[in-house]
Amino acid sequence: RLAARSGLSVGRLKISVVTTAKYLIPSLLGEFCQAYPNIEPEFQIGNRAEIIQRLKQNLDDLYVFSNPPRELDITTDFLTKNPLVVIAKQGHPLKDKKSILWEELYGERLLMRENGSGTRYAIEAFFKENRIKMQNPITIASNEAIKESVMAGLGIAIISQHALNHMAPGNLIELPVHGFPIPNSWYWVLPKGKHVSNAAMAFREHVTQGLSHKKPNEHA
Ligand code: PGA
Repeated sequence: RLAARSGLSVGRLKISVVTTAKYLIPSLLGEFCQAYPNIEPEFQIGNRAEIIQRLKQNLDDLYVFSNPPRELDITTDFLTKNPLVVIAKQGHPLKDKKSILWEELYGERLLMRENGSGTRYAIEAFFKENRIKMQNPITIASNEAIKESVMAGLGIAIISQHALNHMAPGNLIELPVHGFPIPNSWYWVLPKGKHVSNAAMAFREHVTQGLSHKKPNEHA
């Protein structure tokens, strides 16, 4: 269903994405590579601070952020939503409540991504804006390790719904906490004035097209 653009240059397409976007983009890559066999995509995945460094050095053809660094001279285009949800181990005592207040979770340990993570940045901004007090978090620098730790009963966490759904092991649940999910979105980002290569443009179109074919619960 993908109509390949003609006249695309042969070569590498360098894309840098924040860690949560790795649940979204690689799954759309197979068909892209089939349609454009001459293009060799190269992915860099890092936390927000790492991808900002790459952006500042203009190392890539295309970037994906969920909290674009607005202080830099960039252009941003909406990609899709990336809501942040509260997760707990299956069997959590509050699991059957229709709506939980964050205050009811004060006794829990909160597992958070590291400083430099866009997920953490969005959570801290949300808590500040809503004047919610945050319990002292335990820092764990990976979405996967956070999921594992929640499953092991270490505490609760707030992560991208895409990260939760990705290879969902079945023993994690989303808690219906009042005010959540935190609304968040992914954006295509480029330094202002940067020429968008045909390959980068084709890739953007392909991802947009691919998302429109997914069922709504496949991309929250
Ligand atoms: P990160 O990615 O938490 O790994 O930085 C997501 C984001 O930037 O929101």
